[in-house]
Amino acid sequence: MTPAPHPPALRNILPDCRDKAFMETRFCIRAMDETHIPTCARIIAETELWRAHYGITYPTAEALLREGQKEGNRSYVALEGSAVVGFVWFSLRAAFHRSGYIRLIAVKDDHRGQGIGTALLREAETLIFAHSDHVFLLVSDFNHAAQAVYRRLGYMQVGAIPDYVIPGITELVLCKRRSSSKDEQATHR
Ligand SMILES: CC(C)(COP(=O)(O)OP(=O)(O)OC[C@H]1O[C@@H](n2cnc3c(N)ncnc32)[C@H](O)[C@@H]1OP(=O)(O)O)[C@@H](O)C(=O)NCCC(=O)NCCS
Repeated sequence: MTPAPHPPALRNILPDCRDKAFMETRFCIRAMDETHIPTCARIIAETELWRAHYGITYPTAEALLREGQKEGNRSYVALEGSAVVGFVWFSLRAAFHRSGYIRLIAVKDDHRGQGIGTALLREAETLIFAHSDHVFLLVSDFNHAAQAVYRRLGYMQVGAIPDYVIPGITELVLCKRRSSSKDEQATHR
């Protein structure tokens, strides 16, 4: 299946390789296509969180990611050369039919802590905030590493849903509001 081309406006803000500081030499972010799905599915299936707690296997992960290629969803990969090292899947208005929703994000375990997850989230936020003022996501109550990344990027907990996906696990509902350019400048200082 050939991935749908970006609308012209997106093409303008998504050059082939992003000029983010950490990626200058090693990484770039591109739209996910069919060829990236097997590696992304492996990243999911090898992530302890999803394997041990949510029972996600490689075939389930592959099926999920194919769903992410459908209309209304956006997914991007972080590439090191031609190798996929992380991905993000989100929708522009999936939360309350109004706001952005980050459905899945993961970085290959030996590439974590290098800023790739942050860059993928910022990519998703740039696209989401062009359409709405808020982005939502769910994070497991015990996933403190991911929670720390989200909080550092300005996400706040706005709710908690016990037993939502898996009995015994509470999903925290996090939200980030689009900041004014003044807030943005303060964050990057
Ligand atoms: C959550 C996740 C996407 C973040 O991606 P990442 O590339 O590791 O994130 P970053 O490097 O941008 O930031 C990670 C932070 O943790 C620190 N860190 C250091 N070593 C780390 C490691 N081995 N793993 C994770 N984080 C690490 C980083 O220093 C950074 O903190 P800082 O900016 O305050 O220094 C990634 O850890 C992951 O795939 N986790 C498993 C799947 C998951 O939990 N997904 C989210 C579900 S809601």
